Amino acid sequence: MTEADGSRLPGFYKLPLRERLAQVGRASGLTDEALSTFESAAGLSAEQADHMIENAVGIYGLPLGIAANFIVNGRELLVPMVIEEPSVVAGASFMAKLARRDGGFRAQADDPHMIGQLQVLDIPADRLERARQALLDRRQEILAAADEVDPVIRQLGGGARDLVVRSLPETAVGPMLIVHLIYDTRDAMGANAVNTAVERLAPLVEEISAGRVHLRILSNLADRRLARAECSIPVETLAFDTFSGAQVRDGIIEAWAFADADPYRAATHNKGIMNGVDAVVIATANDWRAIEAGAHAYAARDGRYRSLSRWWAGDDGALHGQLEMPMAVGIVGGATRVHPTARACLRLMGVETAAQLAEILVSVGLAQNLAALRALATEGIQRGHMGLHARQVAIAAGAEGEAIERIARQLVEEQAVRIDRAQQLVQAEE
Ligand code: MEV
Repeated sequence: MTEADGSRLPGFYKLPLRERLAQVGRASGLTDEALSTFESAAGLSAEQADHMIENAVGIYGLPLGIAANFIVNGRELLVPMVIEEPSVVAGASFMAKLARRDGGFRAQADDPHMIGQLQVLDIPADRLERARQALLDRRQEILAAADEVDPVIRQLGGGARDLVVRSLPETAVGPMLIVHLIYDTRDAMGANAVNTAVERLAPLVEEISAGRVHLRILSNLADRRLARAECSIPVETLAFDTFSGAQVRDGIIEAWAFADADPYRAATHNKGIMNGVDAVVIATANDWRAIEAGAHAYAARDGRYRSLSRWWAGDDGALHGQLEMPMAVGIVGGATRVHPTARACLRLMGVETAAQLAEILVSVGLAQNLAALRALATEGIQRGHMGLHARQVAIAAGAEGEAIERIARQLVEEQAVRIDRAQQLVQAEE
């Protein structure tokens, strides 16, 4: 999108779907061809699907929405989100609007360093340290061998960066050495490059360690490829209804403290962050299971599962938030390049590097977290949720056309958003 257009889309939510699409086209400059991939699940053809997985029989559709108002590192952008849950897109857009007052989100991504693991077995405990040292002594040779595997990544400035060797002297099957190959995957997520590299290294690692290499696989705890975002919300911006800005700010901080102290709450708190992150990860056809695995393992890195985000009050009275998490995403290779809708989504965001995508993802995660905490700390989550949820319940009960909206409204008014009541209302219409 052009700088002049901005990501503000006032009244966007009130437009019919096709007009929204046209507005996104105007704001972003996306071609009609790219925009047409948004219109149906057929953004991906059955033939393309057939090349992606085994035993393909079709395509599965999900709603694609646009979160407005985002500014990340000074750049205005429209954010595509693929998600079945109501309120997520609205929540992200609204919080991005609040964050705009102070310049939006400031985000930064580490170099794209992934970790590939080799598990080395059959080394007696008293030889473990010697084997570890032998591997480290020949670090340069091992890195050079890893670098030969993918000349394209090397040409692009990536490749093997470091070798770490960890001893696990006591496991269920005896001692083991774990070799970590640190590999810069540039704009790729990198699973294929890393997995190929560690598989190729196995004979050399066996020779040097005099052990037996068993598993050779990437680690999803990509803690050398973190992304972090922060934002600040002027306190007066937080006020609404009968709630003062200070009340909302302090309520959000109390809610965060709960997640920081209690794993039962932290799981739900982090799930709310992932509502935003996953929706964009899916829109760009990245591997959301990898992102989920990395996020939750990172949340438990100090031995207790806790919040991925942090919220506090600044000296200026503003609410400050920060989110840091592993972000192993790519913009080249894999499904990202094959899936026409994913390509259009990347173009919509004007993303040119994997690091830029990571910075957007972590900003959306922070916005989503704020949306959930603000609702939970004030009116509760159900009020905002119920309107769209009621529509889904009405459709599930068999409502069609204009009756969907009518029945959904009545369910909300009656505070009875339940399938049995919806069925009664559908029958009464017949
Ligand atoms: C629901 O999908 C997500 C929330 O539960 C997150 C949270 O509790 O922080 C609202």
